[in-house]
Amino acid sequence: MNNIYLTGFMGTGKTSVGELLAQRTGWSFVDLDVRIAERQGMSIADIFARKGESFFRALEKKILKETAGLTEQVVSCGGGIVLDPENRTLMKRTGRIVCLTARPEVILERTRESLHRPLLNVKDPVQKIAELLGERAACYAQADLMVDTSELNIRQVVETIITGGIPK
Ligand code: S3P
Repeated sequence: MNNIYLTGFMGTGKTSVGELLAQRTGWSFVDLDVRIAERQGMSIADIFARKGESFFRALEKKILKETAGLTEQVVSCGGGIVLDPENRTLMKRTGRIVCLTARPEVILERTRESLHRPLLNVKDPVQKIAELLGERAACYAQADLMVDTSELNIRQVVETIITGGIPK
């Protein structure tokens, strides 16, 4: 299987970069969060609020499995997908993982108005971002390629990925 999985924290540009990367490669574009919301018939925020995070994680894992059965897709993943080691193994086996990063202050700026991101809809989002980045750093670092998007526009990020040899 030959896929590109875009991982990385909320606000690092996975969806916008994924759409353009799919155009450039001619591969199909998949937004996993959109699939999850469609499958459940509810927004991501509502899934978290009504069903809880562990229900969301189980659904995320199931839909990743289904998606990974196809090839030549650019898959934009939710920021927490890398937490599950089986998800990471599956992504490695069925494609390459590109992790987008950004400095914490850039993440804060880009996610400031995002009410649809339940994990950041808290009293102190700065503290929450720092906490989650700390917990997840080692998981994000297992990607095949890391791209810091802090100072780059979408086109430049896509060029960096292609120059980095993805896809081959
Ligand atoms: C999450 C990131 C979100 C979404 C959910 C959980 C996370 O996706 O999957 O709110 O755990 O980081 P984006 O990274 O696309 O915002």
